[in-house]
Amino acid sequence: MAVIEMRRIKREYRMGGKTGSKKESADTVVVRALRGVDFSAEAGEFVSVMGPSGSGKSTLMNILGCLDKPTDGTYTLDGIETSSSDSDTFAYIRNRKIGFVFQSFNLLARTTALENVELPLFYRRREKNEKNQQISARRERAVAALKDVGLNERMDHFPSQLSGGQQQRVAIARAMVNDPAFILADEPTGNLDTGMTLEIMGLFQQLNAGGKTIIMVTHEPELAAYTKRIITLRDGELVSDVQVKKRRNALDDLSHWNKDHSLLAGN
Ligand SMILES: Nc1ncnc2c1ncn2[C@@H]1O[C@H](COP(=O)(O)OP(=O)(O)OP(=O)(O)O)[C@@H](O)[C@H]1O
Ligand SMILES: [Mg+2]
Repeated sequence: MAVIEMRRIKREYRMGGKTGSKKESADTVVVRALRGVDFSAEAGEFVSVMGPSGSGKSTLMNILGCLDKPTDGTYTLDGIETSSSDSDTFAYIRNRKIGFVFQSFNLLARTTALENVELPLFYRRREKNEKNQQISARRERAVAALKDVGLNERMDHFPSQLSGGQQQRVAIARAMVNDPAFILADEPTGNLDTGMTLEIMGLFQQLNAGGKTIIMVTHEPELAAYTKRIITLRDGELVSDVQVKKRRNALDDLSHWNKDHSLLAGN
């Protein structure tokens, strides 16, 4: 079944003109950020979203992430038609169906790794059927998510006590703890050096091999080469959609990189 099904998605921004008036005045500028994008993804896919600056990637991400609604077209996520949903349903879909990973990690500073990962489960507890969820069960899920990203020995560390790569692992564990329909990652390695970037890409590949669906925005073709499929936007249109033929293995590249690096360092 398709996890994501977008049909003729348009997003227009109206700038200037008289505020509140429905009629367009002469000085209204309409920016067509997305001009009718069709995009679907099945469970288990790992898709890169590429395209030059201003091509509509962030606009598409915001719609995919249920942070914004299209001006026209339909978006069905895990069988739920999102475009016509009311704001409560829309927020529910966002919190339960999507795991966000950002370039800047977005962890709470005064909160341990474990507590950061538990956070989405607190929101969830306020929902109808979750009232009796035990504290211990919540903790167990967060611990399991941190183990999945290889951070079992850093659970009580604060973000400032973790490397960038480790912080991003915490963010990925947090994204996964609700078992979302897909992970939406926006330049997830933009703040990381080469070694950590390869580690995180390796983790994504590992999670994807375990069945997680991942959509990742990236400017870098080298990173898209670790995914399974690349879609490219240009001027608000989807201009290319290709399967990656020879997918690179990030952990292999990491071990080569480590070897070269230690040679350079004279070890
Ligand atoms: N809130 C907004 N109001 C008006 N125009 C906007 C708004 N957000 C984006 N746009 C316009 O929509 C188009 C697509 O922008 P978008 O941010 O989606 O591009 P992008 O592909 O993410 O670019 P980048 O790689 O620079 O982040 C651009 O022309 C941009 O100026
Ligand atoms: Mg952008």
